[in-house]
Amino acid sequence: MERDNILEVKDLKTYFKIREGIVKAVDGVSFELKHGESLGFVGESGCGKTTTALSIIKLLSENGYIESGKILFGGEDLAPLSENEMLSKRWNDISMIFQGSMNALNPVMKVGDQIIEAIRLHEPVDAKEARERVERLFKLVNIDTGLVDSYPHEFSGGMRQRAIIAMALACNPSLIIGDEPTTALDVMVQAQIIDLINDLRQKLNMSMIIITHDLSIISEVCDRVAVMYAGKIVEIGTVEEVIFNYKHPYTEKLIKAFPNIFGEREMVASIPGVPPNLLDPPKGCLFAARCHKKIGDICDRIQPELKEIGAEGHMVACHLWEAN
Ligand SMILES: Nc1ncnc2c1ncn2[C@@H]1O[C@H](COP(=O)(O)OP(=O)(O)OP(=O)(O)O)[C@@H](O)[C@H]1O
Ligand SMILES: [Mg+2]
Repeated sequence: MERDNILEVKDLKTYFKIREGIVKAVDGVSFELKHGESLGFVGESGCGKTTTALSIIKLLSENGYIESGKILFGGEDLAPLSENEMLSKRWNDISMIFQGSMNALNPVMKVGDQIIEAIRLHEPVDAKEARERVERLFKLVNIDTGLVDSYPHEFSGGMRQRAIIAMALACNPSLIIGDEPTTALDVMVQAQIIDLINDLRQKLNMSMIIITHDLSIISEVCDRVAVMYAGKIVEIGTVEEVIFNYKHPYTEKLIKAFPNIFGEREMVASIPGVPPNLLDPPKGCLFAARCHKKIGDICDRIQPELKEIGAEGHMVACHLWEAN
């Protein structure tokens, strides 16, 4: 494990057992995250972004399991750890803002108390100390400390999301994973949350993984970005390289389906065709059936490997670039 890296994921395979067979939701994903770095994940719905994140904190649903691979966090492999061993890592080392978490606050409990409870569940601090910490956290995420004793319904959507972020920060994790942290917020509020995330990154030097459909968020808060398709990373590199000098035809489609990258935020317009069935994925390149740059038979027969093609660790999995 390289010293600058906080996280190294190596050939991770996470599958789900269903009645019809095995869903290969994440199928050979590898990436690294440096201390203080922010890595984005993009890709269409169902490509395995959330499953990758849930694998890292080991919160997969009952039918999900890590088939193989390593999740090196600070040098320690999390993949084989038991639920008990993971309990000390979650919140304290890694925390996650879950997809759809905006509505995750308990409606009948004061917001401050919910965060106090979370802190005391994970650290041996008394009630007074925990409350002081909540006040500091509220200041950090720009919520009026007078609102510690308010209920979630007294909070606006943006404030609820700030409270969720405060909760994720409560035990000083060194890695935060945000799964669609701004989805469902209106445009103005999204912009404020993005500013907050950037501000927190500077102040706390956190390492972050940000999952989103929104390429403009990637360009605003991430240093590097991984493009996922059908359970695999098909392109990864600096935001500059991947967005402005993309190499994978899927990345190209994704970017072109999102015309307003620096303007209005929109959901990704659909790319013609559908991703392959992860119960029985095709043998060759998983994007071949939808690809406008298919070079021939090789694309259907052989799965291209993720290979470095140039600047600053820019990697792509596509036969078009294999010869280089
Ligand atoms: N509990 C589960 N049981 C069976 N299949 C699952 C389960 N959870 C996810 N999957 C499947 O795994 C694949 C990856 O899903 P995942 O939620 O990771 O995608 P995603 O990239 O986060 O999508 P979205 O952008 O919609 O959030 C999908 O095919 C999904 O249907
Ligand atoms: Mg998801």
